[in-house]
Amino acid sequence: MASSILVVSTDPQGSTVWWADRVGIALPFDFATAHDDPGSLKYLKDTGAQIHVICNQKGGVGKTTTTVNLAAVTQEVLGDSDQRLHIFVDTPGSLENEHILMAALDVADDVLVPLPPEPLAFDPTARTIEQVILPRELPYKVVVNNWDPRDGKADRDETIEYIEAQGWPRANTVIRRYKIHTRAAAEGKVVTQYPDSGTTLRAREDYFKLALEQGYGGTR
Ligand SMILES: Nc1ncnc2c1ncn2[C@@H]1O[C@H](COP(=O)(O)OP(=O)(O)OP(=O)(O)O)[C@@H](O)[C@H]1O
Ligand SMILES: [Mg+2]
Repeated sequence: MASSILVVSTDPQGSTVWWADRVGIALPFDFATAHDDPGSLKYLKDTGAQIHVICNQKGGVGKTTTTVNLAAVTQEVLGDSDQRLHIFVDTPGSLENEHILMAALDVADDVLVPLPPEPLAFDPTARTIEQVILPRELPYKVVVNNWDPRDGKADRDETIEYIEAQGWPRANTVIRRYKIHTRAAAEGKVVTQYPDSGTTLRAREDYFKLALEQGYGGTR
């Protein structure tokens, strides 16, 4: 029996490198890097696992946070397995590494696009969807991430309206902003490893809801 979940980091820059440096840390899923050799991503297909690519060429929208936490809750639901069941691929948040994103999308079964409730992120997100995802006819969903309920519902609702006006499919689950996510990332921890508290439960719930909505728990 081994971990049913693999996270693959393909981002040669930024926060994922930080995660990649901590491969030795006690993560609840397997972790691999493919920064230097995006061509190796094609071998992921041989595992028979469902491959989920998390992408948005706008930086800092929550790709890495979504990837590792969705992987963590899916591992918790499915437990260990003889087979690899799901692979989550984190991708670069920059246009210059588009070839890496392309290699990831070549093996994708589906795509998740995190989008924060910030109008500045809207146009770059539209570019990724229209120029990179739609031409491949891959199933995809936009997921609103990093919404702070204390800011009121207007930001969230305007973002949802924008997504719907574009005609993009959207995850019903909205990932809320919790400082604990930012803090935990600095410690190399994922949502299932946070010390129990009311906030932890709510923070976890968002990812469990998203995993359930995506059907990640139902293939055991
Ligand atoms: N739901 C959230 N709650 C709190 N903080 C968040 C949330 N989502 C993302 N963040 C924080 O926002 C910052 C950017 O997130 P993250 O690194 O996941 O984005 P990214 O899209 O992977 O960035 P890059 O394009 O640089 O790879 C990080 O500090 C992260 O901790
Ligand atoms: Mg990242």
